[in-house]
Amino acid sequence: MRRPSIFADLTKPPILTGNKVNLRPKRLQDAANDYRWRQNAELCQLDAAIPISCSFEEFLENYTEELHRPGKSYRFAIETPDGKHIGNCSYFNIDQTKNDVEMGIMIGERDYWNRGYGTDAILATLNHFFSQTPLKRVHLKTLNWNIRAQKCFQKCGFVPCGQVTYGDYTFILMEVQRSTKLKDE
Ligand SMILES: CC(C)(COP(=O)(O)OP(=O)(O)OC[C@H]1O[C@@H](n2cnc3c(N)ncnc32)[C@H](O)[C@@H]1OP(=O)(O)O)[C@@H](O)C(=O)NCCC(=O)NCCS
Repeated sequence: MRRPSIFADLTKPPILTGNKVNLRPKRLQDAANDYRWRQNAELCQLDAAIPISCSFEEFLENYTEELHRPGKSYRFAIETPDGKHIGNCSYFNIDQTKNDVEMGIMIGERDYWNRGYGTDAILATLNHFFSQTPLKRVHLKTLNWNIRAQKCFQKCGFVPCGQVTYGDYTFILMEVQRSTKLKDE
């Protein structure tokens, strides 16, 4: 039997609305910000990634392809109410048997850190997932020294559930269950 998707209509993912941000599906016009953020050493370090060194043209070619590839992940832009693109959120490793999904978030614009934007984006998403989809659990990983991220996730109801090491990097695993009483956004 075909199970309901986490987004009922895959051709038209929803726009999610929080108190401080909106989340909308990614589009080609986001490429310039994403390129800038993927080149940023501090952001990459916080995400255990290596800054990209390709040209914008090369980046754009892959970006366009990925945007149109029917995928197993969903990528959303995080915008302020006046339409400023400040970061991204994504959902992947969807397990429709366990009703579980992994998420990732990045506020790319440093001026917007520590101001509740990340918390608002995550709460808007969790409220959508747990009220409109069959998902029962959302999990994520973050570097063990990324205290800001862990604080943000705790505020959203995530609790630590283990850790995993890849090479030099140790990540804390965190989860939130459908039964968790979420804060108001
Ligand atoms: C991680 C991230 C999504 C969090 O979003 P955010 O909007 O900055 O987070 P919030 O403001 O909602 O919450 C951060 C909390 O951490 C606290 N904090 C920040 N640095 C801290 C530190 N060094 N020690 C203790 N608390 C800290 C803030 O005070 C805030 O708590 P408060 O609201 O109780 O004051 C965002 O900062 C980000 O994307 N950063 C860069 C990339 C990154 O870290 N990516 C990895 C994500 S796994």
